[in-house]
Amino acid sequence: MTRNPEPMNYSDKLQAPVFSILSDIADEMGKESYVIGGYVRDLFLHRPSKDIDVVVVGSGIEMAQAFARKLGKHAHLSVFKNFGTAQVKYKDLEVEFVGARRESYRHDSRNPIVEDGTLEDDQNRRDFTINALALCLNKNRFGELVDPFGGMEDMENLIIRTPLDPDITFSDDPLRMMRGIRFASQLGFYLELGTFEAIERNKERISIISRERIIDELNKIMLSRRPSVGFLLLDKTGLLPLIFPELAALKGTQTIDGCGHKDNFMHTITVVDKVAETSDNLWLRWAALLHDIGKPRTKRYDKRLGWTFHNHNFVGAKMIPGIFKTMKLPLNDKMKYVQKLVNLHMRPIVLSEDEITDSAVRRLLFEAGNDIDDLMVLCNADITSKNQEKVKRYRQNFQIVRQKLKDIEEKDRIRNFQPPINGQEIMETFNLPPSNQVGDLKAAIKDAILDGIIPNEYEAARAFMLQKAAEMGIGKPEGTTA
Ligand code: CTP
Repeated sequence: MTRNPEPMNYSDKLQAPVFSILSDIADEMGKESYVIGGYVRDLFLHRPSKDIDVVVVGSGIEMAQAFARKLGKHAHLSVFKNFGTAQVKYKDLEVEFVGARRESYRHDSRNPIVEDGTLEDDQNRRDFTINALALCLNKNRFGELVDPFGGMEDMENLIIRTPLDPDITFSDDPLRMMRGIRFASQLGFYLELGTFEAIERNKERISIISRERIIDELNKIMLSRRPSVGFLLLDKTGLLPLIFPELAALKGTQTIDGCGHKDNFMHTITVVDKVAETSDNLWLRWAALLHDIGKPRTKRYDKRLGWTFHNHNFVGAKMIPGIFKTMKLPLNDKMKYVQKLVNLHMRPIVLSEDEITDSAVRRLLFEAGNDIDDLMVLCNADITSKNQEKVKRYRQNFQIVRQKLKDIEEKDRIRNFQPPINGQEIMETFNLPPSNQVGDLKAAIKDAILDGIIPNEYEAARAFMLQKAAEMGIGKPEGTTA
């Protein structure tokens, strides 16, 4: 390890008042203290960050207590004695204090032996060179950069590299393999070859990491500007089938009788990137990632039709609760939203290929409801054919669908449509218990409105209900005589 011969000074980066308070305390306590880790990295990358990590060669808890005292009653201090760390929250700032430590791992245990250490020991145990940068807080060296592993150079060259032998860094905490890929995707950096190869070698160790920590990283990959960067690295390093087998199953092509199909993994991540260009909505991005997830299970080859993936949207939508459960994604309305988009993702395109009837457009509006705009973003991104003629035709037809959706919504207000007659009224009118007949009548009224047979009005719906009930042989209405 080589120290910078002439330390660079970045006191200009530490102009916020919080740093001068920290500096005063560091000197009052007579302890070497540094801002370290992600905050410093982000300062140089001009990424705003509110979470400051401070490392003290001494007690992090004592420094946090002194800091909270200085800030007064609006500061909120939390002490984690077992970990030797403490946190102070003040307005929108969050400062984390930790004593510099040395960690050593025994092969038979995942838990490290932690001892007090020097700044150098502390930097050694960090995950990547760009995350090991420290800026001194003490007055005589205020703003001095301590960069023992060439983190600044790596930052300039856009390199993700571990400070120590990557096999050690990754086996100490296998989540770091995901973090490395996440940083590459999030920051637009490249994994250094040795770091990349170590992930390939250590990938199986990911099995000891909790699903919650994995999904955190996956969501950060999803939210990066080009999520495909992260997914390609997950694939190339071999992590993908271990953390997300359903997505890995989309990989590959097959050719029979000279007829091939596209690689659905490559197609999928292209669609995610395209959605990411227009929307920051994490769940819309998840819908893009999962839109073709049912394809491997529905793939068939037919001499006449070639490759087919019949009903892959239904099958895919059915797979989603299972995937969300295993991945520890939320099992709430977000899941329902993803399921709905996966289920409907073919509809606008199928619509655009047929003659576009008002009735089909009304049905789509009814089923998609307020998510119609997101569905259209997904469908538009789904057009990735290499055949430019085909893409042009799709896009033109798509424009017609969009216009039609707009016209019909303006005219009929179908998006949040509720049929004017509900089940309760049907039961009371015909003196029926809850039954299939009630459901059938309700569906018939809804269909008649969506198909434009009757207008979306109460009187018309009531007349239609009476007529339909008579046809269906449903009991005569209350208060009438034969
Ligand atoms: N760190 C590490 N190994 C981990 C997690 C964190 O070495 N598995 C170190 C890194 O030095 C990191 C610092 O702890 O910079 C703070 O971690 P954290 O706040 O989780 O990550 P950041 O790097 O700040 O990035 P982000 O906030 O984007 O997760």
